[in-house]
Amino acid sequence: MKALVLSGGEGSRLRPLTHTNAKQLIPIANTPILFHVLRAIAEAGITEVGIVVGHTAEEVRAAVGDGSAFGLAVTYIPQEAPLGLAHAVLTAADFVRGGPFVMYLGDNVLLQPIDGFVREFERARPDAQIFLARVPEPERFGVAVLDGDRVVRLVEKPRERISDLALVGVYLFDEPILEACASLRPSWRGELEITDAIQWLIDHGHTVRAELVTGWWKDTGRPEDLLEANRMMLGTLEPRVEGTVDADSVLEGVVVVEAGAKVVGSHLLGPTIVGPGTLVEGSTVGPYASIAGGCEIRESAVADSIVMEGCRILGVPGIAGSILGRGVEIRRGDGGLHRLVLGDQSRVETP
Ligand code: G1P
Repeated sequence: MKALVLSGGEGSRLRPLTHTNAKQLIPIANTPILFHVLRAIAEAGITEVGIVVGHTAEEVRAAVGDGSAFGLAVTYIPQEAPLGLAHAVLTAADFVRGGPFVMYLGDNVLLQPIDGFVREFERARPDAQIFLARVPEPERFGVAVLDGDRVVRLVEKPRERISDLALVGVYLFDEPILEACASLRPSWRGELEITDAIQWLIDHGHTVRAELVTGWWKDTGRPEDLLEANRMMLGTLEPRVEGTVDADSVLEGVVVVEAGAKVVGSHLLGPTIVGPGTLVEGSTVGPYASIAGGCEIRESAVADSIVMEGCRILGVPGIAGSILGRGVEIRRGDGGLHRLVLGDQSRVETP
């Protein structure tokens, strides 16, 4: 079994963060989403991985390399433009041809391991296996209509509420998916939809199985999704202190302080993670804060936020529900609560 990971896509709903970052590399609990995906694939015993890349190819290559850090052998497959998930499959046809494969969208976070699904697929050998989750806003996803446990209809971004079962961004396919993708026409959004390809399989008498995902799942398309994924992933951490924490500081709950980090006269509320070489002084950090490496947080309070590398937060007592790109600097808070989504290198001075 091979794996195909899709890491193209524009990330338009995550601007300004995605002006300078691939959305799949945005950190969740200080680890890029794509790394969580690659780990799940490695844990399923799969070693051969194709990563479909788009305009952020160089960034993805620089982060993942040849995949050996994950125990994987990675091949990069450039997609000329983000023309849809089925277009990505066709682009990767030479890589996936000749056997079953798991397709994993590089911006999906699933807490459940996939190894059980992979084993069951290999045993039962349907032509496709999809995963479904109940969601409150099905119009944002591809959805499935079931008749008992049989999939009868799949619709991408339905305008009317025909089902609340969304397609999760993990799929298992066998060869017929290539013919299905090749027979598609672009959808109203101008993409070759994998949802339509799976419908084609059903219409042509192929077996498509569906399974409900019971564990937590998130498509990280919007800032609030990233924050929710961050909260969820932080909830799985084990406490660990490798940096220094002075006697005036208090750590409560599950807290990770990475090597070289320094916590001085501060209150860390778990679950929270402080990255390598970061300084936290006279501040309250957490709960649900992921502070990357090389940051400086002084006389401030940061909760429920993703703070990327090299940020400086100086004298701002109310940052919450925020996502700060790399190298952001925020100074002099007015005591109010700030909810910010800032691209790399932004400067903010509150009155
Ligand atoms: C894509 C699929 C959709 C699926 C979703 C899961 O949506 O087209 O069917 O439910 O991923 O993350 P997109 O991210 O392209 O809007």
